[in-house]
Amino acid sequence: MTYLITGATGEVGARVVKQLVEREERPRLFVRDGAKAQARFGQNVDVRVGDLGDRESLTAALRGVESLFLVTSGPNIPMLDEIAARAARDADIGHVVKLSSLDVEQSLAIGAWHERGEAAIRASGVLFAFLRPTGFMTNLLAWAGSIQAEGVVRTSTGNGKRAFIHPDDIAAVAVRALTSHEFVGDALALTGPEALSFAEVAARLGAAIGRDLRYETLSDEEARLRFQATGASDEETEAHVELWRAIREGRVGTTTDGVQDVLGRRPIGLDRWITENVDAFRSKAA
Ligand SMILES: NC(=O)c1ccc[n+]([C@@H]2O[C@H](COP(=O)([O-])OP(=O)(O)OC[C@H]3O[C@@H](n4cnc5c(N)ncnc54)[C@H](OP(=O)(O)O)[C@@H]3O)[C@@H](O)[C@H]2O)c1
Repeated sequence: MTYLITGATGEVGARVVKQLVEREERPRLFVRDGAKAQARFGQNVDVRVGDLGDRESLTAALRGVESLFLVTSGPNIPMLDEIAARAARDADIGHVVKLSSLDVEQSLAIGAWHERGEAAIRASGVLFAFLRPTGFMTNLLAWAGSIQAEGVVRTSTGNGKRAFIHPDDIAAVAVRALTSHEFVGDALALTGPEALSFAEVAARLGAAIGRDLRYETLSDEEARLRFQATGASDEETEAHVELWRAIREGRVGTTTDGVQDVLGRRPIGLDRWITENVDAFRSKAA
């Protein structure tokens, strides 16, 4: 079987590649920078260069492929998913496994981008499985700078909770979906094992690095200005401010049995992720 992996240099896609290679598969990667991908994965992969915005390059890479793992990001998700759906149909592949978002179920902006992308894939007639994860544990790395420098975590999420998921679990579900047709037509809601407030997460990080972290609450406007300062577009900024507000209002603290149902084991907990990443939060001077 040939699997085409997009987003292979990203958070989830790289783990999908790694897990497929561990199963002695030789995945085909669709990347913008072939040298970067080859340097990262060596001879265990077949690298094809192209761009998700360029249907011809994707269709060519899809020839002979059984399943496509599709990762698209940002406000262009609907357009890129439509291009991918058409390319998948033209290349007559087995099915598409799309990395979507649990926010689809919450009528949030990022969810709306994915909802439109999912709709384009459904409408194309290609067989599909949608993975709908909650927030990734790796998002917490965004706190590393302020924790290292000031011992502070700042968010606008108040006491709201989120059941962060380990990206290894998303990748494991993706590999199951890609290598079988078990989940065709399904939208799998995937979360970590427990919903935690961001203050609770900060307390666990603090305990791991042996430092009392201060937790500061931001207003929506303060959060907006800080996110904009990272270079994000207005549309992306508003989508994130809206998501943090939804967390604060207790609208996205769901936990699901999705990982357990697919993998037959509990999802990975936050403590393991913290153990794996603790050095990122330690002060360099310490
Ligand atoms: N973070 C969360 O909490 C969360 C939660 C739920 C759902 N999601 C969804 O997860 C997805 C992001 O997954 P991720 O975090 O694994 O990705 P990521 O780490 O942000 O990486 C994005 C990947 O896409 C590739 N890429 C970007 N534009 C491309 C293009 N035009 N053509 C070809 N490749 C392109 C990048 O390659 P380069 O190396 O070339 O840049 C990179 O490999 C989004 O759809 C997001 O909505 C995220």
